[in-house]
Amino acid sequence: AKVHHHTWDIAYHYKSLDCVNKLAVTINGESPGPTIRATQGDTVVVTVRNSLETENTGIHWHGIRQVGSPWADGTVGVTQCPILPGDTFTYRFVVDRPGTYFYHAHYGMQRVAGLDGMLVVSVPDGVAEPFAYDEDRTVLLMDWWHKSVYEQAVGLASDPLVFVGEPQSLLINGRGVFEPFHCSRAPSASGCSSAPRPAAGCAPPALFTAVPGKTYRLRVGSLTSLSALNFAIEGHSMTVVEADGHYVRPVVVDSLYIYSGESYSVLLTADQDPSRNYWAASHVVARERNTTSAMAILSYAGNDPRAPPPTPRPEGPAWDDARPRLEQSRSLAVAHPDHVVPVPPRPDRALLLLNTQNRIGGHIRWAINGVSLAFPATPYLVSIKRGLRGAYDDQRPPPDTYDYRSYDIASPPTANGTVASKVYRLALGSVVDVVLQNTVALNNKSETHPWHLHGHDFWVLAYGDDGKKFDPERDTNKFNLRDPVMKNTVALHPRGWTAVRFVADNPGVWLFHCHIEAHVYMGMGLVFEEGVDKVGRLPKSIMGCGRSRT
Ligand code: C2O
Ligand code: CU
Repeated sequence: AKVHHHTWDIAYHYKSLDCVNKLAVTINGESPGPTIRATQGDTVVVTVRNSLETENTGIHWHGIRQVGSPWADGTVGVTQCPILPGDTFTYRFVVDRPGTYFYHAHYGMQRVAGLDGMLVVSVPDGVAEPFAYDEDRTVLLMDWWHKSVYEQAVGLASDPLVFVGEPQSLLINGRGVFEPFHCSRAPSASGCSSAPRPAAGCAPPALFTAVPGKTYRLRVGSLTSLSALNFAIEGHSMTVVEADGHYVRPVVVDSLYIYSGESYSVLLTADQDPSRNYWAASHVVARERNTTSAMAILSYAGNDPRAPPPTPRPEGPAWDDARPRLEQSRSLAVAHPDHVVPVPPRPDRALLLLNTQNRIGGHIRWAINGVSLAFPATPYLVSIKRGLRGAYDDQRPPPDTYDYRSYDIASPPTANGTVASKVYRLALGSVVDVVLQNTVALNNKSETHPWHLHGHDFWVLAYGDDGKKFDPERDTNKFNLRDPVMKNTVALHPRGWTAVRFVADNPGVWLFHCHIEAHVYMGMGLVFEEGVDKVGRLPKSIMGCGRSRT
């Protein structure tokens, strides 16, 4: 096994990702950062220097379980203190499984400023994968705002709340073309001739050049801050073969729905007319579309890679049709049920978690069973390992369930809730079920929330229908225990429920949260702890804040 060393300087630079000049948080001057490539079993060492002047940072390795290195998870407030301006911090971890993963900032809402990238782990030489392809390519999907992180975060914490709004642009591999949405629909509309137009020379970027007849594995990942997306390549179908680092039973799709924090590998064969190019497109779904779709160009070898396709830009599916999204979620199954870890037949503990938006102390927050997460000043990992009493809200544990018999998920929440730093303590090695229950928010609408678990993968056992409340007595027997897919991020669909199961077998403290930056910033997350007494000596480098002292 190899050791891969990277040295990163994190700094603000002016960037024109969507042809509008704006500050971005960069890695060695780039946003998105470089794709890290390694082979299963290798060690990745990243030395991060924070050159942000006035902002802390911390970097999370999304999808890497950090077995034996829970302090390298990069979650500020949970597994480490922030990396201060001028300081240097070294992450060292083993990539123990092949698959398509990410890295990104995990401090405040810093990810919205562009500190992210992909992490690809290959199988060792001689190990066969359950499908064939010639080459792989990464496709990182993002959404992009012209407002700074600070304006966005302060707005969300204000009373009345100032929402971040819909993104100005969508990006494909960090590039896009800003154009006001209404002008993209009707270029002659009033104001559009004088509205900021894409600068001269600003055009849809090249995706990659395909050689006719070859099959490509596209490693598609979404690190949007808000948007759920639909991704498609004109004229080509795609075969989904991997989700969040796990092989899935191949499914052929015309387009892929993808939520923030998810990754998929799709196979694409260059089998269309090679004399022209094709649009690759990313469209907003699940929220009313107010952002021009992103376009990139798939070219065939021999053509000008920047030559626009002869066809009109694809429109994408209706943003408000939730049915095909739920269907795609339900269509995923593990590739070889006989070859993978069998699902434990029953849980040792079951959590039923109601997702609500509440007004708490004059602020709008998101809460789980009435508790809205605030990160403590001392990282949980240090306070739990050292037994520091009162470093987080350790008086009473957060509730395992809510009043599911009488709660009305079709009406906006009226209850209050609290803002707190609590933790669910799980028995090491126990089997845990989590059912996430969606509701309508204060505006009477119900959003899609992509939930991401650090330190583990979970089996996705079932999705409930729109408008149906989960009832443990009735719905537990609907769980798929035969061939469920394993993932680390899963969609909670509007007014629906999603059931997952995992084994709490990774000593450490792990965040479980909605991957929408604004939502976790407003408290939509919770913390699991298991077996911290089994964790080795904590490195001094994660300490120094709150009551954590070396
Ligand atoms: Cu990719 Cu806690 O997040
Ligand atoms: Cu959310």
